[in-house]
Formats: sequence, C-alpha cells, structure tokens
Amino acid sequence: MSQDRTPGHGGNPLRDPQDRRLPRVPEPCVLVIFGVTGDLARKKLIPAVYDLANRGLLPPGFAIVGFARRDWTDHDFADLVGRSAREYARTPWREEIWARLRGGVRFVAGSFDDDEAFKALAATVDGLTTSHGIAGNAAFYLSVPPSAFPIVLGQLSRAGLNDQVQAGGWRRVVVEKPFGHDVSSAQQLNRLVDQTFTPEGVFRIDHYLGKETVQSILALRFGNTLFEPVWSSHFVDSVQITMAEDVGIGTRAGFYDSVGTARDVVQNHLLQLLALVAMEEPTSFDAEAIRAEKLKVLNAVTPPRDVARHTVRGQYLPGWVAGAQVPGYRTEPGIPPESRTETYVAVRLGVQNRRWAGVPFYVRAGKRLPRRVTEVGILFRKAPHLPFHPADVATLGHNQLVLRLQPDEGVTLKFGSKVPGTGMELRDITMDFQYGEAFTEASPEAYERLVLDVLLGDKMLFPDASEVEASWKVIDPLQDAWSGARPEPYRAGEWGPQAADAMLASEGRAWRRA
Ligand code: BG6
Repeated sequence: MSQDRTPGHGGNPLRDPQDRRLPRVPEPCVLVIFGVTGDLARKKLIPAVYDLANRGLLPPGFAIVGFARRDWTDHDFADLVGRSAREYARTPWREEIWARLRGGVRFVAGSFDDDEAFKALAATVDGLTTSHGIAGNAAFYLSVPPSAFPIVLGQLSRAGLNDQVQAGGWRRVVVEKPFGHDVSSAQQLNRLVDQTFTPEGVFRIDHYLGKETVQSILALRFGNTLFEPVWSSHFVDSVQITMAEDVGIGTRAGFYDSVGTARDVVQNHLLQLLALVAMEEPTSFDAEAIRAEKLKVLNAVTPPRDVARHTVRGQYLPGWVAGAQVPGYRTEPGIPPESRTETYVAVRLGVQNRRWAGVPFYVRAGKRLPRRVTEVGILFRKAPHLPFHPADVATLGHNQLVLRLQPDEGVTLKFGSKVPGTGMELRDITMDFQYGEAFTEASPEAYERLVLDVLLGDKMLFPDASEVEASWKVIDPLQDAWSGARPEPYRAGEWGPQAADAMLASEGRAWRRA
C-alpha cells in the first residue's frame, strides 16, 4: 500500500497548508457509507454531507455511495439522502445544491457476507473515477455495529478496496465507537484495522472532538496568558466534568443494554474532555503533537483504588422529565426487566503527574437527568486567608471557571464581589461569555467537521489506537469491580443517585448545579 496523499487544500500552490483560517476543500472523492439505513447515517452523516455541499466545502467531483441489504436502485437511495438532508440538515434547503449532489449518489445492494456485492462496490467506485474524476480517492464509513467491523474490513480487503496502489488515490476508513468493549478487544480491532488500511488512513470517530466548544478548550488554554498559570494543583481544588442528558435510550435498547454508560460515553467522550483539560501544551497545533500530549494524560489517569467508595453506578426509575412522565429503564421496550446495566456513572479519577497530583477529577454522565448539559467546571482553591469578618464571606464559594460545552455554549467565570451598600459583604457573581452573542457564524455540527476532516485527511480531531487503549485501561478495572453489582436507583428527572452526592460530600465538596 502506498503512503496516504494527505491534506488536499484545494490544490492552490500559493496557500500555506498550515493556515487553518480559510476553508479547505477536499480533492474529488467518494464517501461510501455502510449502514445507510441506520439513525446515525440518516440523522447525522447524510445531513452533514449536504451541509458541507451547501457551504461550498465539497469538491465538484464528489459522490456518495450507500451499501445496504435493500433491494434499492440509485434512485431509491437518492430519495433517502434527499429526505434525510431536508429533515435533519442544519443549513437551508437549496434545490441547486441537491441537484449537484444527487448526480453523485449511487447504491450497492448486498449483505456483508456477499463477495459479489463487494465486487459490485469496487466496480461502482471505479466507475466514479470516470464519471466524477475521483481519481481513486475513497473513504469507507463503517456506521455499523462493532460486531460487523471484522467482516466488512475483510470484504474491503478481499475486493481490493483498501489498496491505495491499485486505486491510485487515497483509501481511508472511518470507524464509529464503541471501539471494542475492553482493552483486549480494542487491541484486536486495532490490529485488524491497521492490517487493512495504512495508519494515516484510519479515522476513529469520537464526535465530541468535532464540537466547536470542545476544540475551543485548546484555544482557551493555549491562546491566552490568563488561565495557564492557575491551571494546576497549586490553584485548582477539583475538576468536575458533567454530561447530562434528559433523553432515555430511545430505540437503542439492544445496543445500550449491552454497553451501559461507562462504555458508551465515559471511555470516549468524557475521557477525551478530561485529556484536553489536563494535557500539557502541545509543541505545535498538529495531530501528532496534540495526540502525544493527550496520550500522556490518559496514561496518567488512575481509576480509584476504592471503587465502592469512589464510583457510583445508577439506573433510572420511572419519573418526570421536562413535564413528561417517562418509564423506568427496566420497562423501556427491549430491556430485560432484571437488567443491571447502568444509565448513570459518577467516578472520581486522579491524574498522576506533577501538575495534577492530588486534584480529584469528578466525572459524571447519565440519561434521564433533569436537562441536557455538558460542561467542565474548574473549581479553584479557596483563598488561603481572607481579611474579612467570617460573616461577610459566609456564602462565598470557590472561584470557578466553567466551560459550557452544550447546549448553552460559552464560558462562565464565577467569583466573589462586594454586595453594594455600606457594609462589606461578599457574594458570588458570574461573568458570562456566550458564543451565540460574540460570533455571528453558527457552529457547524460535529459530524460536518469530522466528515470534512476525513475527506481532507486531517487527523487532528481523531483519537488514535493508543488513546483508545489507554482509555479502556481506565474503564476496565471499574467494569471488573462492578461486575454483577446492582446499580443504585434514581428517579428519572433527578440528578442521579443520592450516593453520587454523598461521594462528594464525604470529601467536603458538592456537585455544581449544572
Ligand atoms: C453518543 C452516545 O456517543 O453520544 C449516546 O452513544 C449519547 O448515548 C450521545 O446520547 C450524546 O451526544 P450529544 O452530541 O447529543 O451530546
């Protein structure tokens, strides 16, 4: 296999490829999606492709191929693409964009064990070189259950679709999480993917990294002088990372019940957030340098020694969320009534390095909590001495810097201020920055950014195999200690089990009211 022909930048020789301000357009190429009828493809991937086309970020020679076990023609698949884009795209519908996109829509019918179907796929991709000038450039998006990865990768290889030399262009593969279910299955999968595609051609998706606000953690930390000097155990008391969802498990019972919250979102999204918050400054802003720093942090993350004391697993009971009555987890359609799968996790992690020794990182995630919010709270130590009367500062809390990742995107700084009047009383106040007010452009969807980066060959926002494996090493000991344990119940619409409050209270702390 030849080396990947990395980042296209529209072929403009005057353009500095390191300059990331101006939009970049990939070379002509095809995006092949496996699992096109699934929710992810319909609600996220296809709309993201349309939005990219609408923003002028796809090359004129662009095609999208769907592969599925349906007796469909190109025309039927184009209908699905058009409907998904109309219903879920972020940007307005424009007939002229759709007309252009539609010309590159192809469908290949078949199942994953059907060699002939993969030959037909190879012929379709070849045909696009003639019709759309894609010059052999193809990305294969595996939007399929992890159990199907090996067979699809095997078929791509048998059909020669992974072979860049034969193709004369780049060949890339995009793998959706969960990437394995523990460290050994992740290693196995990594080996398989690496045997099939070149390392530069493998893109592991963690869609949190595609979120604007998540990327801006690096901007805030490394683009300013203000925060870095206080970003360590000398000034930070504790860090709280919260990912709360008001939704339940929707129609994903089968998947969710075999996975649970720790594997679904803590192993990936939340540990990636932790890594961005805790990492050292990268030597440059490129994929390799950022990955190296994130990996150091992930390798330094320690799961609690006393799992019973420093973790809480919960499962929701029936309750009320946003004014609606909702069923408990065990009565959701498709969930066994005896299920012990967790829908909530809180865990106290440590980061064993000089910067963070002794600072607890409290991480929590849950479904059917009161509202949707993802945030990182940096809680600073209290002042070592206050020259005020104790009564004047009785209600003063920790100074806090809160990175509000979604849905109310922005940053909040919380600090004490004098209450107006003749006395001297101090109270906490907040200073808010809102993305929506400060900038006119709306943030792209995470998948827009990530699909574009795959087509550009830009790996900065994609965790690599070693990060994935290091993250499993944090989660595996928890899973072992929990195995078979009954999760703590919490009522839907509450902030998780009481034990999660008790866990912080026992250390003289409390969860931020997110
Ligand atoms: C996915 C999880 O990775 O992230 C889902 O599998 C979760 O369970 C989703 O609902 C949340 O994503 P977002 O972007 O809405 O925060």
